[in-house]
Amino acid sequence: MENFTFYNPTKILFGRNTISQIGNEIKASGVKSVLLLAGGGSIKHNGVYDTIVASLRANGIDFVEHFGVRPNPLVEHSNSGRALMQKHNLDGILAVGGGSVIDEGKSLASCYYLDNIWDAYEKKVVPDKGLPLFVVLTLSGTGTESNMNSVLSNAALQKKMTLYSPLHFPKVSIIDPSIQMSLPWHQTANGGIDAITHCMENYFTGTYQETTIGILESLMRTLIKSLDALQVSPNNYEDRANLAWAAVLALNGVSGAGMNGGDWATHKLQHGISALYPEVAHAPGLSALFPSWLRYNYKLNEPQFARWAKNVWHCDSIEKGIAAMELKFKSWGSPICIRELGCVAKERLGEIVENTLGIAPVIGGLKKLDRADIAKIYEMAW
Ligand code: NZQ
Ligand code: ZN
Repeated sequence: MENFTFYNPTKILFGRNTISQIGNEIKASGVKSVLLLAGGGSIKHNGVYDTIVASLRANGIDFVEHFGVRPNPLVEHSNSGRALMQKHNLDGILAVGGGSVIDEGKSLASCYYLDNIWDAYEKKVVPDKGLPLFVVLTLSGTGTESNMNSVLSNAALQKKMTLYSPLHFPKVSIIDPSIQMSLPWHQTANGGIDAITHCMENYFTGTYQETTIGILESLMRTLIKSLDALQVSPNNYEDRANLAWAAVLALNGVSGAGMNGGDWATHKLQHGISALYPEVAHAPGLSALFPSWLRYNYKLNEPQFARWAKNVWHCDSIEKGIAAMELKFKSWGSPICIRELGCVAKERLGEIVENTLGIAPVIGGLKKLDRADIAKIYEMAW
């Protein structure tokens, strides 16, 4: 097993009727006022907003609202949030929503004191002091509720970039799986698929790390089982809860322990598409790309790919395992090639390759992908 550091200071409150504790948690942290950050308004339809407002008021926490966080959140919206925080002299952030809202909340938590938030995402500056972030999660999948990643887009520059910072760990995250019953099916599926891909990004660089590999296999099987069940019975609490907890563990450090950093190329390839096509949500982009990444790379660690096919998909060959995964993604309504995303122009694939090369200095862990590799995977995924 490779050496690793495990650090995860986020306090998680998990379960039914936990959201009403948010005001109390914020007060206990000594924070007196927050920016209440949210998306397009789903929290006003499922009761989450009312519960939060009541809890904040009961605990004497002042708040200023900032709605309108977009899926694939924008630094431009984060900038206007920061201006509001400065104007009202707020001392914390409360992000209420899915990965997009939380990631934008993280950009404020880590970059509040910087001259330019985007500079940190471009790695021109490393933020070293921040503000406390509190989270109420409404959509499980990204794992952002207890990790140090934040993914933000810049509309002007057509870039989607990730910033890793310990300042991003929420102080407290509340996860009440029952409020996810208001999700439309495709959003539930998106979350589950995203979490499955987080397991896969870690899995294929493994060989002998039995503890982590066993956890990853269990998480993948649980996620598949929970999604299948929720497709039939979306209001089943136990399946919601299992999916929600598996999604946390899939990207909170546990699932990557000792795995050489994982691969993560497919995530970068996905970000390369969403940067030019923000209407492409994260999970459909991943399900469109992963089959081709698997076919392109399996020879580099064949025993591990075969183990995945057997233990996750119950198949006796790698190709059969990949085909089983494609069938499953399709049955959940998710695309398995770029064409099926419905909006990407084939003649722009070259532009997408260049954009992806600009996202990170290294793309891929199992194999460090160069321009030709990346172009080939996009072409295979077309
Ligand atoms: O905006 P609202 O009105 O809240 O509606 C949202 C949004 O339209 C809706 N929704 C959320 N909870 C709901 C609900 N609708 C009904 N009932 C509920 N309970 O769902 C829609 C999608 O939300 P979004 O936050 O965009 O989805 P997701 O959680 O999949 O987040 C995606 C973002 O996270 C990034 C992705 O790249 C993408 O930008 N990721 C962040 C990661 C991290 N920080 O660790 C890791 C991931 O790999 C990923 O890259
Ligand atoms: Zn992801």
